Amino acid sequence: MEPLKLGLVGLGGMGRSHLDKEVGLEEVRFVGVADVVAASVDEVSSRYDIPGFYSYQQLIDSGACEAVLIATPHPFHAPIALYAIERGLHVLSEKPIAVAVSEADRMIEAAKRAGVVLGVMFQTRTEAHIRRARQLLADGAIGQIYRSVMIASHWYRTQAYYDSGAWRGTWKGEGGGVLMNQAPHSLDLFIWLGGKPRRVLSRVDTRLHNIRVEDTVEAMLDYEDGHTGWLYTTTAEWPGENRFEFTGERGKLVIQDRTLRLYRMSKTIREETATGATWGKPEGSWETIEVAPEPAGHPRVVQQFARAIRLGEPLVATGEDGRNSLELANALLLSGYQHKPVAIPLDRDEYDRFLAEKRATE
Ligand SMILES: NC(=O)c1ccc[n+]([C@@H]2O[C@H](COP(=O)([O-])OP(=O)(O)OC[C@H]3O[C@@H](n4cnc5c(N)ncnc54)[C@H](O)[C@@H]3O)[C@@H](O)[C@H]2O)c1
Repeated sequence: MEPLKLGLVGLGGMGRSHLDKEVGLEEVRFVGVADVVAASVDEVSSRYDIPGFYSYQQLIDSGACEAVLIATPHPFHAPIALYAIERGLHVLSEKPIAVAVSEADRMIEAAKRAGVVLGVMFQTRTEAHIRRARQLLADGAIGQIYRSVMIASHWYRTQAYYDSGAWRGTWKGEGGGVLMNQAPHSLDLFIWLGGKPRRVLSRVDTRLHNIRVEDTVEAMLDYEDGHTGWLYTTTAEWPGENRFEFTGERGKLVIQDRTLRLYRMSKTIREETATGATWGKPEGSWETIEVAPEPAGHPRVVQQFARAIRLGEPLVATGEDGRNSLELANALLLSGYQHKPVAIPLDRDEYDRFLAEKRATE
């Protein structure tokens, strides 16, 4: 396979980490790096011996790349992606795909029109225990899900972290707090494993940090198939927990950090409840599912992006996947700040107005 000629936009923490991990992969060749900070461009360009550009437009217009990887702060993901897509380039965007779901709509639509690939950096999907969990759920190991739980409190951040970049922890720079920066990975997995809710009622709080956006969120969720969910995420708690629970008609699947535990019942809870004795209890047992580690993380997403373009293989996460978790994050923000239940599909115009009002306060 001919390596994909890839340009990188954004040479901060994540952009540089991509270069550290992905220069030398067989599937891609970095052909240009761009940032608005000239000193960063010069430094990175000479360290990796990759041509440097002082704006994303210069990089894209140079004709050097077939695709761009976008690792700028989130509000630039959509404009850079649209600029690239309209010039026939494939795009891999860092998470979140954009700030408002209306922007994600435009990106997906533009990519379809241009016939290019649009992917999102959701590398946690590549982890072996997550893929195994998805397989177990798809195989019906717990039957139909009737209750889902997500606790993502492993995203602890200090005040110094928020102070490390002017864009962090602001409506203008991020379009939200934990929901827009840390939790997108968790929301993505929650949807990928348990489905997309159709209604949310959330509570948001800025509990510990001196920031304008939320650092803590909890919410009740309703799903199309009748199941219910609850989620909690925060950057203001220690020790943190990274936990998903799916309770179904035939058992329960728990993902706690990297451990996968499955409870299988001999009969469904419905049958047990209808036929069990007065003080009867359902039968079943717990097992820990052993999962052999496999190559995972950011490089896997980049490799698969190149293989999707060259060989038509599936992406790790598509633009639509990116939109799903963004739409949930937007709905949780609107619900939490306006103290009301919010339906998904989200009203795009209402969300755009809400975000504009929040940004106008900064
Ligand atoms: N997938 C992951 O695990 C993961 C981890 C960390 C960050 N991220 C994502 O990566 C993105 C960047 O985060 P970060 O921590 O690297 O931020 P950062 O502040 O360290 O770096 C951002 C870089 O983008 C540059 N930039 C800003 N505007 C630009 C523009 N218009 N054109 C070109 N360059 C521009 C800045 O100068 C800076 O060098 C965010 O969207 C974040 O959510 C993803």
